Parts: sequence; structure tokens; C-alpha cells
Amino acid sequence: MIHQADYLVIGSGIAGLFFALKASESGSVIVLTKKDRAESNTNYAQGGISAVLAPDDSFDEHVRDTLIAGAGLCKRDIVEITVHNAPDVIKELTEFGTRFTKKKGKLDLGREGGHSHHRIVHAHDLTGKEIERALLTALSKKKNVRLLEHSMVVELITEHHFAVRKGTQKKRTPKNPTCYGAYAFNNQTHDVEMFVASTTMLASGGCGQIYAHTTNPQIATGDGIAMAYRAGAVIANMEFIQFHPTTLYHPKAQSFLISEAVRGFGGILRNSSGERFMERYDERLELAPRDVVARSIDSELKKRGDDCVYLDLTHLPAENVREHFPNIYKTCLDFSIDITKDLIPVVPAAHYCCGGVQTDNNGATSITNLYACGEVSCTGLHGANRLASNSLLEGVVFAKRAIKHITLHPKKSIPTDIVKKIKPWDDTETYNNEEWVLLQHDRKELQNVMWDYVGIVRSKLRLQRALRRVNLLQKEVEEFFKRTRVTEETLELRNMITVAWLVIKSAQLRKESRGLHYMSDYPLPNDSSIKDTLL
Ligand code: FAD
Ligand code: SIN
Repeated sequence: MIHQADYLVIGSGIAGLFFALKASESGSVIVLTKKDRAESNTNYAQGGISAVLAPDDSFDEHVRDTLIAGAGLCKRDIVEITVHNAPDVIKELTEFGTRFTKKKGKLDLGREGGHSHHRIVHAHDLTGKEIERALLTALSKKKNVRLLEHSMVVELITEHHFAVRKGTQKKRTPKNPTCYGAYAFNNQTHDVEMFVASTTMLASGGCGQIYAHTTNPQIATGDGIAMAYRAGAVIANMEFIQFHPTTLYHPKAQSFLISEAVRGFGGILRNSSGERFMERYDERLELAPRDVVARSIDSELKKRGDDCVYLDLTHLPAENVREHFPNIYKTCLDFSIDITKDLIPVVPAAHYCCGGVQTDNNGATSITNLYACGEVSCTGLHGANRLASNSLLEGVVFAKRAIKHITLHPKKSIPTDIVKKIKPWDDTETYNNEEWVLLQHDRKELQNVMWDYVGIVRSKLRLQRALRRVNLLQKEVEEFFKRTRVTEETLELRNMITVAWLVIKSAQLRKESRGLHYMSDYPLPNDSSIKDTLL
């Protein structure tokens, strides 16, 4: 079955939804999303969106804070574009119906690590859920938008998928491919369908699931990065995986996030002896950038042989804590932890991918007609470490820039003769395999390898070990993929392995420590390495 539209959007998080809303003003839109429409990293975002709105704050200071966190690798022009657009982003999200928390009629501004001012706009501690609700409601009113749930994109369509003419020896795949849309697996019919569009926007989010412990939901398997890499796109800076310092340590909590806004509100980190250990690591204490706090916790745990550290809010007025963090309060209470009276046991977990599909300052990738925005992309904003609450912001800023760029340079619809050339998905000689237990096992093995060898602290030896194991998994899963009919599980595992490989390879290429990438063999930064890692 062939579906056609002017715009094909892959993903229904903040980036995909914002792009779809804007794109619907100039053409027909299909949004594909692999689970329920709201299921995304966006839906779990807690802290908020950074924007200079306080009278004593300035764009220069937001730019400076972003550059400091990014440890020399941010692209200054991209940082400036993003920071200067932030107040408008808040205005537009509000116009689309987002209800941000206000105090005395004004937006309540929180503070997070690495920020020199209060500038985090939020909806209590459920900011992402509120944004998803508002954007999905706004999108449901658009007549020329089709949002298809449980449609998992399998591959981007490029010349590589053109049928070979009889008598031609081999397929000609150009050096600079063009994207014509995507193949997607329909989880209801179990068929792979073809979606053709003159512009494809990749907004498929991050890859936290490649790690055993992550704040990211199940959808975050790095599909977009893997598919773009297979299609020939340039992938940048994958070594910079951000670990959030504070997720709830509890056997049943599955790395539930304790927002950085809690530390911004006055939360103190203590070790098992009750000591405020951050005093020994950084003068900015609990509000140092995330890489510093996560590494300090890691070092404290290893030195003391402890399983977790503790976040202490017991000195703060209980009523204020409950009012500001209703979701965190309730969730912890479900695990018998009253955060107004008890210390919260916390550990770091994989949280955010600073690298991704490289784009220019309009969201265009190295593949013609393929754009990317949100966590899947690498615009140059975050450099070697993302400043808290700059991610939701980036998704909207680059969705807006992309649609502006596309409408200024309108694309023709894909000609019928090209559509005819695209081969339907070929699943002949594949069969239903019942050995799902093997896939489950491989997924867990990959997550453990990445956690143990490619985590907060890395070394040459650990990376070599990880690569050997991931290469083996890749071989096994590729063979399995070729033999069996498409399923979500196989597709995800295949993508996760590719993304893990990209992270390890990038980490091996960076022979220094910078931002989130800490190598015990090269503990210091080396300024001759101030460049992007490209694969
Ligand atoms: P997502 O919101 O992850 O959306 C990706 C979409 O793509 C999903 O709909 C998914 O189903 C779909 N998809 C993926 N693969 C496929 C496929 N193969 N086929 C079809 N669809 C696919 N950032 C901040 O700035 N502030 C915060 O306070 C904050 N808090 C966070 C808290 C948590 C717990 C987490 C996990 C992240 C947080 N972040 C925060 C980061 C931020 O939420 C994400 O970076 C951002 O939401 C990414 O948005 P996105 O639209 O790019 O991707
Ligand atoms: C948080 O609330 O701590 C997450 C903020 C972010 O990831 O930007």
C-alpha cells in the first residue's frame, strides 16, 4: 500500500508535533508514531524549558551557561539562535494551549544545574505531559494531518530502494542520496507499507534504551539515528551520552527521574554518612553541570562501595515541596518514601543523547529532502554536554526553522515515475520465528555491556571489550533479521545495536576527556581535539 503526502513526520514528541502543526499550514501531513501517540521522551519531561524571561537575566548569560556546559564543542551561532528564540517558543506553546505554572499571574521560573539564573518555565513537575496534551489537541483539529499510531518506521526510502531495470548490472546509489519517504511496519496488519513525501522530517527522539539503566521510556531505541546512518547520513558526536545524576534507587522504580529542579529548589546530595560530598568536588555544589554531578556521585559510590547516594529535602518547607513537585512526591510515596521527611536514595542513569543526525542551522541533514529535529538530531547546540532544559527548547526552535526554510524553498511532489521505481517491501524468503527469547536475551546483553563498559567512566580496554561483544551481536541479529518477518522487537534490537556501535566507535575516536566523555586513559581535555566526531 502506498500513502502520499507533502510532509512525512516520523515521531510524535515535541519536535514532530510542533513541526506537523506548522507544516499543516502549507500542505498535507502524515505523522507516523510507533506506539500510542503520547508515548515519547517528551511525555516524561519534568523540569521544563529554559528561556530568558526574568528581568535580571540576559540572553548573553543563557548563551554563556550553554557554552560552559558544552565544554568547548557548542556551535556559538546555533546557541545564539536557540537562546534568542526561547521567549517566542514559550509564547507559541502557550498559544497552542500549554498551561505553564504561574505565580501571582506571572510564569513561575525554576532553576537547574549549570544555569546562573531562574529561567525554567514548567508545568509543575509534569511539563512534558502538559506539552504533549496541548500539541496533540491542537493537531487533532487540523484537517490535513493524519496521525498513524503503531506505525513503526523500518527504513528511510532512498535511491537504494529503486527497482533495478532489466539488463542493468547493479543498482546505482548516488553519493548524495535523496529521501523519498519511508517504509513503516503496521502493527495491526503486520504489513510493511510505503509512505512517499517530498519532505521527510525525522523526529524520532533518543536512544537511552541502549543502557541497562535509563530515564527514557521503551520507545527510545535510537531508530532514527540507525536508519539515517544506514541511509548514508552523517552522524555526529555520539560519544556524548548524558547521564542524569538523580534517578530513584528502588528495585521497582525503573530509574524514575528526580528532577534537577529539585536540586534547584534547595535539595542537597549526601553520602551514606550524611556528608554533603559535592563540597569536595565543585564549588557550584549540587548545581554544577550534570556531567560533574554524575561523575562525582559515581566516584563517591565507587570509593565507598555504596549502592546509592541520597537527596535531602527535609530542611525545606514540606508544603512548598509538595506544591512544586506533586508527581515526584506522589511517586516516591508509592514506594514508601515521604520526600518531605525521608532522604531519597538516588543513582545516575542514561538520560540524553547529545549526538545524532548532523544538521545545518535549518535542520537539513546531509541527505536531500531529509530534515531532523529534536533529540535525534545534532545541531551543535549541546556540544559535549547539554545544559538542563535546553532540549525541549531545541526541538521547537529547529522544527520552526526547518518549516520556514522548506516553505521558502518549496519542493515539488515526487514525480509518478519515481514513485513507480520504489520497490515495495520484500519479505519473500522470510518466516515467522518463534525464538523471541533469544532477542530478549540479546537486548539485555547489549544494555548491560553498554552500562558496564561505555558508561560514565570509560577506558580503552572497556571500549575494546564492548566493541567485540557488539560486533558479535550485530552479526547474529543481522542474520536473524534477514531470515525472519519484520517485528517491532527485531527492528528495535537491530537499531539499538547500530546505535551502540556508533557510540563506541565515536568514543574510541575521541582520545581525550571532554564534557560527558570521560576516558581514564586520557583524563584531561586536549584542545587539538575541539572538533565534532563524524561517522
Ligand atoms: P521524543 O519526545 O522522544 O519523541 C520521539 C517520537 O518518535 C515518539 O513518538 C516515538 O514513538 C517516535 N518514534 C521513535 N522511533 C520511531 C519509529 N521507528 N517509527 C515511528 N515512530 C518512532 N528536556 C528538557 O528540555 N527539559 C526537561 O525537563 C526534560 N526532562 C526529561 C525527563 C525525562 C524523564 C526524560 C526521559 C527526558 C527529559 N528531557 C528534558 C529530554 C527531553 O524530554 C527530550 O530530549 C525531548 O522530549 C525529545 O523530544 P523529541 O520530540 O525529539 O523526541
Ligand atoms: C530534569 O527535570 O531534571 C530533566 C531536565 C532535562 O533533562 O533537561
